Amino acid sequence: MKAFVVNEPGAPETLQFTDLEKPTPQDNEVLVKVRAVSINPVDTKTREGKALYNTLKETAPVIPGWDISGEVVEVGNAVQAFKVGDEVFGMVNFPGHGRAYAEYVAAPETHLARKPRNVPHHEAAAATLAALTAWQVLVNEANIQPGQRVLVHAAAGGVGHFAVQLAKYFKSFVIGTASKQNHDFIRNMGADETIDYNEEKVEDVVQDVDVVLDSLGEENTRRSLLCLKDGGKIISILGGAKEAVQAEAEKRNIEAKNYLVHSSGQDQAKIADLLSQGKITAHVSHVYDFEDMAKAHEQVETHKTRGKVVVHVS
Ligand SMILES: NC(=O)c1ccc[n+]([C@@H]2O[C@H](COP(=O)([O-])OP(=O)(O)OC[C@H]3O[C@@H](n4cnc5c(N)ncnc54)[C@H](OP(=O)(O)O)[C@@H]3O)[C@@H](O)[C@H]2O)c1
Repeated sequence: MKAFVVNEPGAPETLQFTDLEKPTPQDNEVLVKVRAVSINPVDTKTREGKALYNTLKETAPVIPGWDISGEVVEVGNAVQAFKVGDEVFGMVNFPGHGRAYAEYVAAPETHLARKPRNVPHHEAAAATLAALTAWQVLVNEANIQPGQRVLVHAAAGGVGHFAVQLAKYFKSFVIGTASKQNHDFIRNMGADETIDYNEEKVEDVVQDVDVVLDSLGEENTRRSLLCLKDGGKIISILGGAKEAVQAEAEKRNIEAKNYLVHSSGQDQAKIADLLSQGKITAHVSHVYDFEDMAKAHEQVETHKTRGKVVVHVS
């Protein structure tokens, strides 16, 4: 099968298009013929030798990627949830070795959900790592409630645009940060208030927030404390809740923590349900051919992508 490997970390061109053996599914795994994969910042960081590169290297060859949508073509002996022919999607083995940049991926059945019929593969692939992050942070960790004020940073990005939609679905008042040209976009996703981070400091204009989703890191996490109510919550997906920030937060009874997404077929099924009902959608702004994986990485590395970048595999 065709797949991309990283033998030496580096620039996007270090992604090598190669032929590998098709994987054999373990008892608890299904073999998925991949139709589309989505690309995340963690993919590009790993390709550069950062993020999860060292973990993946332990089970070389390093095949990057985690987000897939495709069709089940083989099932392991113990698999119960899926059969050959089912269309599935999910984030495979995160934060382990997902091996998603390949024509075939062996995935634990517990990491997948059924792809809704009315959602195309490229949109389903896009609604995996980014959507799961937004779900796990806002629903599982922050337990957002109707009427709460939720501040979503980088609201136009992969995680952000799902976070805005989920917060709206759960009837929160949603405030999003984005550059001006993305304000209409995030309002369409459900934002009630938009902040242009180039023009104003969020802490000068936003107060009394119950929950903050930070995806920009320590300085932003620290500044966002000023937007929160006493007793509020801030969850950083970029390690922003450093010890000093947590100490500052504690003085006001604010919970400040870091979070790392994990594979979950259960959470993925909840997302599938909302996608199938049209309650949330994946906004895919760029689709590349499989051979053009390097271009997809370059797009993600602009840090200006609206919604998601997807690669069509087969
Ligand atoms: N811990 C975890 O589990 C986890 C999970 C997922 C992602 N992450 C991390 O979270 C970060 C975001 O991921 P992502 O997939 O959402 O990235 P992304 O899709 O590449 O984010 C791009 C968006 O960021 C916005 N942006 C850039 N600088 C900004 C700023 N200073 N203020 C507000 N918005 C800004 C851009 O909007 P404008 O064009 O409007 O500026 C763009 O739409 C990445 O570093 C990723 O590695 C962590």
